[in-house]
Amino acid sequence: MSSLFSKSITLRKELKIGDEEFTQLRDFIYDQSGIYIADNRKYLLENRLANRLKELNLKDFGEYYYYLRYDAGKRSELNRLFEVVTTNETSFFRNPPQLRVFQEKVLPEVLDAQRKKGTKRLHIWSAGCSTGEEPYTLAIILREVLRTEIASWNIKITANDLSEAVLKAAKAGLYTEYSLRTTPKEIVERHFIKKDQKFEIKPESKNLVSFGHINLSDRMALKRLERSQIVFCRNVIIYFDDVMKKNVISSFYDNLLPGGFLLIGHSESLHNISRAFSPIHHPGAIVYKKE
Ligand SMILES: C[S@@+](CC[C@H](N)C(=O)[O-])C[C@H]1O[C@@H](n2cnc3c(N)ncnc32)[C@H](O)[C@@H]1O
Repeated sequence: MSSLFSKSITLRKELKIGDEEFTQLRDFIYDQSGIYIADNRKYLLENRLANRLKELNLKDFGEYYYYLRYDAGKRSELNRLFEVVTTNETSFFRNPPQLRVFQEKVLPEVLDAQRKKGTKRLHIWSAGCSTGEEPYTLAIILREVLRTEIASWNIKITANDLSEAVLKAAKAGLYTEYSLRTTPKEIVERHFIKKDQKFEIKPESKNLVSFGHINLSDRMALKRLERSQIVFCRNVIIYFDDVMKKNVISSFYDNLLPGGFLLIGHSESLHNISRAFSPIHHPGAIVYKKE
């Protein structure tokens, strides 16, 4: 009886993350990704990593930290850690009022500017694309707007994320009805192929999107990306602290061509982060223009 009792105490102790261990792990995650885990989300690390520690046969979070720093398997473990600390919530046609502004205001301006220049090239960057719903939504909107004219355009949507797992799902392009909960029915009929209980994005939209791994805290990698006319980075900077937000937004500014637009999440703001952009207020959304 007493040995069982002491065993359960040890088990509980093993799964708890101490204050120092938390700070160490939090700082490590921040250095690797720019994601800042606030004190009140300490339980998140504890809960989500407890099983992983058991799988690796590690006795506490201190050992886990050393594993992440020095073990031969540290690279793949870092990917697993990213999966644990990121929130991948997304859906097709997320935030319809903002997408309407994109379709009716931003896109016509950008397309017309290109037509006038005689260079029908369009590059859109979806940064923090999760399982692909956002960049595929943009591909669908482009198909809807340009219709047959799309054949005369050179269009590329670059979509990046930190998590290899979400990128794998994005490349597969197969979704449940839940991902399409805010998508108009006629759009689902035109742009998806029903496969059993799932919906597959049609190849003509899929082919407009290139997925790749990018860590937004890697400024050099961001510099190497082809320049864009439009950057979408929605519901991503919310997980960063102000220093990281400033760096990322300034990388977007540098990436954008003059006259380009940045669209961020509806609960996000550039207030105290950047004054470089001109905010343009539309009913339902603010878009940020690089003049
Ligand atoms: C909540 S999802 C948003 C998905 C989509 N943009 C949307 O609004 O529906 C946030 C995504 O940002 C990614 N992310 C977080 N930190 C990142 C970083 N440092 N570099 C690249 N992607 C990151 C996460 O992996 C996650 O898939």
